[in-house]
Amino acid sequence: MIIGVPKEIKNNENRVALTPAGAKELIKRGHTVYVQHTAGDGSGFPDAEYELAGAKILPTIEATYQIAEMIMKVKEPIESEYKLIKEGQLLFTYFHFASYEPLTNAMIESKATCLAYETVEKTDRSLPLLVPMSEVAGRMAIQKGANYLEKPLKGRGILLGGVPGVLPAKVLILGGGIVGTQAAWMAAGLGADVTIMDVSLPRMRYLADVMPANVKTMMSNEYNVRTLIKDADLIVGAVLIPGAKAPHLITRDMLKDMKPGTVLVDVAVDQGGCIETCRPTTHENPTYIIDDVVHYCVANMPGAVPYTSTLALTNATLPYAIQLADKGWKKAAQDNADLVPGLNVINGDVVYQAVAEAFNLPYTPVEKYLA
Ligand SMILES: NC(=O)c1ccc[n+]([C@@H]2O[C@H](COP(=O)([O-])OP(=O)(O)OC[C@H]3O[C@@H](n4cnc5c(N)ncnc54)[C@H](O)[C@@H]3O)[C@@H](O)[C@H]2O)c1
Repeated sequence: MIIGVPKEIKNNENRVALTPAGAKELIKRGHTVYVQHTAGDGSGFPDAEYELAGAKILPTIEATYQIAEMIMKVKEPIESEYKLIKEGQLLFTYFHFASYEPLTNAMIESKATCLAYETVEKTDRSLPLLVPMSEVAGRMAIQKGANYLEKPLKGRGILLGGVPGVLPAKVLILGGGIVGTQAAWMAAGLGADVTIMDVSLPRMRYLADVMPANVKTMMSNEYNVRTLIKDADLIVGAVLIPGAKAPHLITRDMLKDMKPGTVLVDVAVDQGGCIETCRPTTHENPTYIIDDVVHYCVANMPGAVPYTSTLALTNATLPYAIQLADKGWKKAAQDNADLVPGLNVINGDVVYQAVAEAFNLPYTPVEKYLA
């Protein structure tokens, strides 16, 4: 198969969909890989490394879309790319269709096959191509939080791990899923006093088994949240209710009960945030202060560490990309059920029910294309 890797052009997106190592794996299997000039630069992979792996460099985005049977990307195509997409072309990338109607309409019109990273789903309902970014964001939440706790950045001026003779900081993590667990590991590793709150008892039993002694678990409810926020130095929002807006576990009135200089890192900001006063911020301007409480609510945290994020993402996407390249999307989906819910739009039909419902579009069951 001919695979094209365009350079990401969305504002501040430095990731790339395929590393030189990934290109080599595909080329070894007889596929041809074209990479747009400088596509890997933002992640630290220069053209020369792709060439060494056997890929060919193309000068423009137009040439890359023109030649490829499968386009591998990171972010959804933006408007200037719509016209480059060809009928029957396979696009393997994040789409988040339900959040943007013009993109959905453009992909319907293109008659391309759109396989969305975010809806590829394993039989245990986990989302293997979302997990790596949650892992990055969870770990980063503590790195950022520790930084903003410093006095010059308007934090409390407390060192996360304390020092001999001085107590460590208290870290409260709301939600013990992927983000929460990774955040807890990082905070615990730095010596902080960590509490994870969740509503799932099985999840908390698991966490209690695997976490070090400086991590405790506690049932998430309003009473417990109100009690613990009074003492917390750093609070990480990591709650997810699939398909719904995040619940506001910390409301506006609770800020006055916190210590001045407390830092809130609401990772769940992309689902509306689990802190009422959270509004999306950017890496250029990541924080704001309300009632002496520092809010960090960057919606694309992994974007700041493109080297790690690219490697983490491509570790997860490459096995699927290989199946798609070896077999074509239809046979690959027939053989691997994970890929079936990833199919969102095929040949002008919306084959993912939630997307059809979001915009009142006709829904075509995906089975029509897999029979
Ligand atoms: N800002 C970013 O850059 C970024 C990056 C990656 C992920 N995220 C977001 O982070 C959030 C968490 O993602 P995840 O992968 O960890 O999800 P997850 O499904 O693995 O974990 C969510 C956890 O929240 C728990 N939960 C649900 N309701 C709760 C409540 N009322 N109180 C406490 N816990 C509750 C669930 O039981 C679950 O354990 C999502 O909104 C995701 O989109 C943001």
